[in-house]
Amino acid sequence: MENLVEIKNLYKTYSENTGLFSAKKEPVHALRGINLEIKRGEILALVGESGCGKSTLGNCILKLIDTSSGEILFKGENILTYNKKQTKAFRKSAQMIFQNPYSSLNPKMRIKEILEEPLKIYREKNIKERVIETISLCGLNQNDLKKYPHQFSGGQRQRIAIARALILKPDFIVADEPVSALDVSIAAQIINLLIELREKLNLTFLFISHDLNIVKYISTRIAVLNKGMIAEVGITEEIFKNPKDDYTKLLLSSIPKVNL
Ligand SMILES: Nc1ncnc2c1ncn2[C@@H]1O[C@H](COP(=O)(O)OP(=O)(O)OP(=O)(O)O)[C@@H](O)[C@H]1O
Ligand SMILES: [Mg+2]
Repeated sequence: MENLVEIKNLYKTYSENTGLFSAKKEPVHALRGINLEIKRGEILALVGESGCGKSTLGNCILKLIDTSSGEILFKGENILTYNKKQTKAFRKSAQMIFQNPYSSLNPKMRIKEILEEPLKIYREKNIKERVIETISLCGLNQNDLKKYPHQFSGGQRQRIAIARALILKPDFIVADEPVSALDVSIAAQIINLLIELREKLNLTFLFISHDLNIVKYISTRIAVLNKGMIAEVGITEEIFKNPKDDYTKLLLSSIPKVNL
């Protein structure tokens, strides 16, 4: 399979501490020489314990934060050398779904406006049709367009956030813990929606999660991240059946037994 994304020797150091412990000025070496490929059409899961650098990697790949060194190739081009215009074009094809559908949607905008905004920015045509088509793909209906985010449940809000990520017809989605704020049954519905959308729209996903039961269910391959470095990458079944790295074994041994 062809690579959609290739990450080469990627480093990210947070030099100013902008996090919770901002008094401490020690640099944080969040990513330390990442090499990773994401194949077209796959759902690559990125797993590892809290603080290992999962969100940092997702944010670097979408150019939401600066990187320290290395290369990120998207469709064969290094996005880190892109100018503003190229970056804008790249952003159209690579989108993020965030963990928290409460904070990721502007509470003052109606769903219609939330979905129209990206289309207007990119001067797309057939805005009305595109909004209706996307909202129904995500399991919501036209009446929902006039409502505000607070009028929806958590699961529905995540559907709206997914619709917003899809409205520009991207090829690539980074989903950073997209269901960890939801109840188990609602989470399962959203996971099934993502699987369905991948098939219908030929999407490629980087799926960030700490929940290995969900990862087992949704992903094609798994990349295990440990302290900013890739410990192991492999086909999902293989990783679960025959983990090679000690850290992967440790992660797998700590899965709570829940069947989705
Ligand atoms: N803006 C920031 N400034 C300074 N340090 C940061 C910043 N963001 C993240 N870090 C640090 O970088 C490291 C990786 O953080 P990151 O958020 O990527 O981890 P994660 O694997 O996504 O964790 P979690 O599972 O808790 O979401 C951590 O040590 C974190 O404290
Ligand atoms: Mg994170």
